[in-house]
Amino acid sequence: MIQQIKSYLNFLKNSSNQHGVHSPFVYSLITKCFYDKKKYVEYEILNQYRKSLLENKNFIEVTDFGAGSRVFKSNKRQISKIAKTAGISPKRAKLLFRVVDYFQPETILEIGTSLGLATSAISLGNKAAKIISLEGCSKTQEQAQLQFQKSNFNRENIKFINTKFEDYLLNCQLNTEHCQLIYFDGNHSKKATLDYFEQLLPTITNETVWIFDDIHWSKDMEEAWEIIKNHPNIKVTIDTFQWGFVFFRKEQEKEHFIINPRKNFSTYIFQKLKI
Ligand SMILES: C[S@@+](CC[C@H](N)C(=O)[O-])C[C@H]1O[C@@H](n2cnc3c(N)ncnc32)[C@H](O)[C@@H]1O
Repeated sequence: MIQQIKSYLNFLKNSSNQHGVHSPFVYSLITKCFYDKKKYVEYEILNQYRKSLLENKNFIEVTDFGAGSRVFKSNKRQISKIAKTAGISPKRAKLLFRVVDYFQPETILEIGTSLGLATSAISLGNKAAKIISLEGCSKTQEQAQLQFQKSNFNRENIKFINTKFEDYLLNCQLNTEHCQLIYFDGNHSKKATLDYFEQLLPTITNETVWIFDDIHWSKDMEEAWEIIKNHPNIKVTIDTFQWGFVFFRKEQEKEHFIINPRKNFSTYIFQKLKI
């Protein structure tokens, strides 16, 4: 926890907004997507999806595959609590929707479905995209599928796959056509993150977008993020604290950005704290 607070203060100090960003690609992403203030009708659908899960007081027996929970002590968990703690936040879900809407990837891989809070944002961002979403816990995934049905989402383009990530990535034949955008949001450990990173490298193209969740969750994850940033195939990275964006655009200079997705937040906080 202390490490996370330190990392966040560091982030606030070092992050900026679009000013001083010379890359047109990154500038456009920040101004047209990150800071897009339009009230999309899809936001209401996302809210309803979340609300329904938060009202669900049923319990399920989950199998924990990841780096462990800092919240739950037992494997018998209430749906509403899983939605509150393990899923993407409302703000990030909107941002994820905008990112998918902005890039319009035709194929998307989500590593870590949980209750489908992020999957719903992804699928609304590009309704025609083919989406694969991986989840190891069958009971949790069942709930995601139920919620998709209940919310009348178009499920034709979404393949929910119940698998251990390791098994799927090792045995599947994913190639450049399958993963124009990948959202890495499961097993937040250094080793697993770097393993998935290496296993998925053969699928990259110049346009591929990768988003790593929780890059500052632990010292371990921060180390993984540093290794990813320094990989020779990586050209541009954007650290938004919660997420690390990765781009492979050969035409760009290698450059790392630290961008606060809340436009003037850092300046505001540091003025308040008089730092
Ligand atoms: C943080 S949650 C995903 C949240 C979801 N993307 C969202 O924003 O709503 C991570 C999920 O990954 C699953 N998971 C973690 N490690 C796994 C592994 N090695 N194989 C399969 N599933 C795993 C967990 O069961 C959990 O449901």
